[in-house]
Amino acid sequence: MASLLSSAAASHETLPDSFVFPADERPPASSAAVELPVIDLSAPRDEVRRAVLDAGKELGFFQVVNHGVPEAAMRGMDAACEEFFALPAEHKAAFYSEDASKPNRLFSGSVYRAGGGERYWRDCLRLACSAFPVDDATRNAWPDKPRRIREVVERFLVATRALGMELLRLLCEGVGLRPDYFAGELSGGDVIVNVNHYPPCPDPARTLGLPPHCDRNLITLLRQGDVPGLQVAYRGGDWIDVRPVPGAFVVNFGHQLEARLRQSFSDNACDIATNGLLKSVEHRAIPDATRPRTSVATFIMPTEDCLVAPAEELVAAAGEGPRYRAVTFRDFMEVYKAVGARRESVEKAFKI
Ligand code: OGA
Ligand code: NI
Repeated sequence: MASLLSSAAASHETLPDSFVFPADERPPASSAAVELPVIDLSAPRDEVRRAVLDAGKELGFFQVVNHGVPEAAMRGMDAACEEFFALPAEHKAAFYSEDASKPNRLFSGSVYRAGGGERYWRDCLRLACSAFPVDDATRNAWPDKPRRIREVVERFLVATRALGMELLRLLCEGVGLRPDYFAGELSGGDVIVNVNHYPPCPDPARTLGLPPHCDRNLITLLRQGDVPGLQVAYRGGDWIDVRPVPGAFVVNFGHQLEARLRQSFSDNACDIATNGLLKSVEHRAIPDATRPRTSVATFIMPTEDCLVAPAEELVAAAGEGPRYRAVTFRDFMEVYKAVGARRESVEKAFKI
């Protein structure tokens, strides 16, 4: 528990050496004034479909507003998360675990050693849900403090998942797949909610809250909160800041979505439907010097047995064989764990 950055006992007047990253692994954000598109989901469906596809191709990341997740569900979740991290250490200790195979746990980047031995300035509450409608066994595996956290999480998670499924339908319509292509086992695995908590950091310029990574799932919906800190890799390797938009969700595609929609990881892939550009894009998180930052990421995952391969419809349209090895999601996760989260290494591992 001493390893939890947010524990009351921890005081952070200076950045401990173990959190310092070499300068070349922590390039500053670009000064380019690039903004993620903000898509209003209440606009006419044709317009929304086009905007989602364009944004996906352009940056691989976008924000959505008027998305149907009730304001009260979002605010309730914010409050519950804040209260959770402010709980006395003994309450959090009950949920703390360094066993990565546990679906529900509290853990910290302060014990995670990256390649160079560095640690990350982040605590994380991970909550999993595999049953819809949510059942008692699922709820009972979540923390029971603060009061009402279980119903708050359930409400948030169900509404956010519905938004994710709607975005997947819009994408399918955009690339010419049947609208329910991602229903069933492709999106039928766990839905994971990661509450990322980044305490104020004495020297944010020399560390990272989350390392550069691509998400391993199908699609991610991130509630960023008011404090900025998310950065997205931009074309030439620059990092761009994602401006917090009140009430918005930041949306990005995971490896599984890319694997389904693209014929290959290579940029010149002959992928007619998506023009080879609908990608899973690297991103990272930076802590703030004075304010705690909390973000809530909802990850929609395939089932473990789901075979992840390019959509047959797209392979047929491209008029050539698949260029990407078909693997079960379980095997994908094993490889991902072994090769690390960087885009390049995952690409290499799965190319035919
Ligand atoms: C994640 C993630 C970014 C953030 O949880 O996978 O990328 O801003 N989070 O916390
Ligand atoms: Ni991520």
